[in-house]
Amino acid sequence: MKKISIVGAGRVGETTAQILAEEEYCREIALFDVREDVPDGVALDILQAAPFFKFDCLVRGGNDPEILRDSELVIITAGFPRKPGMSRADVLESNVRIIDEVTDHILAFAPEAMILMVSNPVDTLTYRAARRTGWPRGRVFGQAGVLDASRMAAFIAQETGFSALDITTMVLGGHGDTMVPVPRFCTINGIPISHFLSEERIEAINERTRTGGAEILALRKNSSAYDAPGAAVATMVDAIVNDRGRLLPCVALLDGEYGETDIAMGVPCVLGEQGIKSIVELDLNARERADFDQSVVAVRAEIERLTDIH
Ligand code: 2OP
Repeated sequence: MKKISIVGAGRVGETTAQILAEEEYCREIALFDVREDVPDGVALDILQAAPFFKFDCLVRGGNDPEILRDSELVIITAGFPRKPGMSRADVLESNVRIIDEVTDHILAFAPEAMILMVSNPVDTLTYRAARRTGWPRGRVFGQAGVLDASRMAAFIAQETGFSALDITTMVLGGHGDTMVPVPRFCTINGIPISHFLSEERIEAINERTRTGGAEILALRKNSSAYDAPGAAVATMVDAIVNDRGRLLPCVALLDGEYGETDIAMGVPCVLGEQGIKSIVELDLNARERADFDQSVVAVRAEIERLTDIH
């Protein structure tokens, strides 16, 4: 890929930019942020690490949306972060206005791009950007499940002592308290986790996964997570730029899949160079389906709030 832009030079944007540069996923990374000088400073700082990490792609920052011109992929991390005690939905109103403006910049300067939404509440903001652009759903998607699944994998590794490298996890639904970890699809090198963990321990891991973002926010106090979120975004970028066809949980606009339409939420997707190639429909059991339905209700309630925000 030639050019990837990141909107928002906060911690998630910066960490993402750093990884993309170090891995040389593209020739140019543009960081756009409305705060004066900040994106320029972040870009310069990353660029000055180039000799250590041996990359030579260009990293630049700026306040003029023109910097987005001709991006092939735009990653949106901008917006107000939640404070301890707040839910992701609490920042909806303020962030919708920001995301609408950003979407308009993308329409003006990078009309052929893909959009990868990271800002919260990510399901609803992905929905908003998809509707505002009117682009095919393969080109507008969000990051949530890759992070949630990596949190779940980390907890399983801690609990069992097995290498995180051998752990595969799946988390569906909205990126909020109703997200749906699916232990039935979680394995340690192909062996179901139920072979190693009691039902009670698995339930505790599910719950810790659901509140994984809030746990870090409470511990860090003045910041949400950004190391694992940046790595999760980079994993999706890797799947896209290398056209890997990876099966990853992504926030996607549903068009009949899982019996739902007019909603965006986390489902397993095949991700490649054109974005989302397809959505994989899993045969959920009664409990998983009930949990998924509950998540649908929560995301729909957020999406309905959009009609009052102009
Ligand atoms: C998280 O889960 C902030 O949504 C982000 O950490």
